Amino acid sequence: MAANWLPIHKKIREVIRINEEVMLWGGAGSSKTWTILKQVFLRALAFPESRHICLRQRFEHTKTTLWPSAKDLAVAEFGQEFWERCETNRSGGVWKIMVNDSEILFGGLDDKERVEKHLGAEYATVYINECSEIMDSAPIDLISSRLRQKINGRHMLFLDMNPPARSHWSYKRYIEEKVSGRAAFRINPRDVKENLPASYIKRLKELPERLRKRFYDGEFLSDIEGALWSFDMIESTRRPQDGLAGRTVIAIDPAVTANKNSDETGIIGCGAVGDGFKVYADRSGRYKPSEWAHVAVKLYDDLQADAIVVEVNQGGDLVKQVIKSVNQNVKIVEVRATKGKYLRAEPIASLYEQGKVEHAEGLEVLETQLQEWVPESGLPSPDRLDALVWGLTELALKERKPLFFA
Ligand SMILES: Nc1ncnc2c1ncn2[C@@H]1O[C@H](COP(=O)(O)OP(=O)(O)OP(=O)(O)O)[C@@H](O)[C@H]1O
Ligand SMILES: [Mg+2]
Repeated sequence: MAANWLPIHKKIREVIRINEEVMLWGGAGSSKTWTILKQVFLRALAFPESRHICLRQRFEHTKTTLWPSAKDLAVAEFGQEFWERCETNRSGGVWKIMVNDSEILFGGLDDKERVEKHLGAEYATVYINECSEIMDSAPIDLISSRLRQKINGRHMLFLDMNPPARSHWSYKRYIEEKVSGRAAFRINPRDVKENLPASYIKRLKELPERLRKRFYDGEFLSDIEGALWSFDMIESTRRPQDGLAGRTVIAIDPAVTANKNSDETGIIGCGAVGDGFKVYADRSGRYKPSEWAHVAVKLYDDLQADAIVVEVNQGGDLVKQVIKSVNQNVKIVEVRATKGKYLRAEPIASLYEQGKVEHAEGLEVLETQLQEWVPESGLPSPDRLDALVWGLTELALKERKPLFFA
């Protein structure tokens, strides 16, 4: 399918023409990345023997999202033949596309050695993808200091992101401060609806409020006063924890009744990694007892977990029986609530504050619950949060002996 550029893209081109640092921000799927990648390709074609680098916080994400986008954009915009003429090299810590005699590099900021290597070279263009994932602006200033390859034209620094919280450095840099040569341009899915399936826009519109604000309306978020988890604490989970994987558990917070209005059953898979922890999966949902037990045991198998953690205050025996009826051999760790929810959740939030928890991708609903729950607000704590707290408590507070090991 050919690329289809709309009037709003013309406006963006105008912004790019008169600035040297351009941030595209807004909702999800609004063509931020394609728009910038197209510029990168055009610049690689325009300046002989030029070098361009596209970076994201984690190289892993560069490989799985940015690289495929570059390929799709190149084919859609310049044709399959053009792409086949580009030489690609997908080895080592930097992947490369040769466009004629120019190179476009793709890397990550998560490895100091590699970053130093990037800093050893000079570039015509730097593109930082999803820069909300970067906790401070120092790496951006450092990398952009290498924008000095000799070319017959202007150097460009491009960035894009879904807007994070106002406390993030990007808010000050792009929204509050006015600096000549620097511009921020907002583009939302509804601005490019001609290029998106109607069902996608509808799904974004129907997201829970905080997610909708960020991914549909493309608005910066405010941290909720009194919430235990802030946006920055959630962003810190994008950094990988180092070390060997240790125990893995599945934690369940079962819904008491199963009807349309009943609570969700929280089902979270998490494990120890080195000194820290990783949340692997959230399979929570509105299930009947027979269903959630299957979902939990499947996750136990998928993650080859060591145990399923179950709170036994309310109907604990029944919960155990239901799990055992699905698989007799599952190890169950029973836990008992002796403290209030706030006191249970607070040490877990503190692990996040210390940067000790990593999240797998796709945990947005859990992440939203964490940021929205205000202790003592009178509202019930969300079930995904409860399950997460049980799981990480089991892993983190090792001195506590399990009450029962079946
Ligand atoms: N000019 C275009 N013509 C046709 N389709 C396009 C165009 N730009 C983007 N798309 C389509 O929209 C999708 C989303 O674009 P892109 O990945 O650039 O959005 P994004 O704003 O970077 O999204 P995210 O917030 O998820 O990073 C692309 O995968 C592509 O299918
Ligand atoms: Mg993008």
